[in-house]
Amino acid sequence: MWIFAHRGASGHAPENTLKAIQLALDMNCHGIEIDVHEIEGELLVIHNRWLMETTNGDGHVHQHSLAHLRTLDAGHGQSIPTLREVLELIKGHCVVNIEVKSWATERAVLAEIEYAIKKLSFRNEQIILSSFNHQILAEAKRLRPATLIGALTSCIPLHYAKFAQELKAYSVNCCIDFVDRALVKDAHSRGIKVLVYTVNEEVDMKAMQALGVDGIFTNYPSRAVIACGLDN
Ligand code: G3P
Ligand code: MG
Repeated sequence: MWIFAHRGASGHAPENTLKAIQLALDMNCHGIEIDVHEIEGELLVIHNRWLMETTNGDGHVHQHSLAHLRTLDAGHGQSIPTLREVLELIKGHCVVNIEVKSWATERAVLAEIEYAIKKLSFRNEQIILSSFNHQILAEAKRLRPATLIGALTSCIPLHYAKFAQELKAYSVNCCIDFVDRALVKDAHSRGIKVLVYTVNEEVDMKAMQALGVDGIFTNYPSRAVIACGLDN
């Protein structure tokens, strides 16, 4: 079972910061998940729309200039990184799952993916583009077919993983609250991986392993390695 550091190793360092990314690299995670918003054409790595929740800023992330956002403290003196900075740090040393949040365009993300592959030693198989916005995923796949797509869902869809197959997805990225054996079986029968978020408790980590999912997103990668007896 693959371990993805959720928002970096966010149980140990401020989420979605270079510090959390570096810790995840030090832990030899299979992959690192991050969230991106697009501001003035630049992709910033931050999860929440409301700045006071994860930074010393105020208001909505999209109400501010890029220059101002870059001055904020996202914890431990870390600034909000750009996607480019994160990719430069990871440099193909592990998989990266880029989750597109609101108002980010597929073109901006695809440009960064192209850069990562041409200049930063990433292979296509090392970058997953995920989103709850399936329109963005469909368009990204159309524009750049080599892109691996992670079809996010927080529910068990009526026809299980059929929606992901229609998106030509690499994986269904499903919420721990709903993932079940039927979804896993259906996804696997379609040749689609199942990645589960956010799995922080040991009992859930073991349950996911028993369910046969392909990977989990966790804030505590080292806990997962020990709980599941993984050879990391
Ligand atoms: O990508 C998995 C997970 O991060 C999706 O939910 O809200 O934590 O971004 P969220
Ligand atoms: Mg996320």
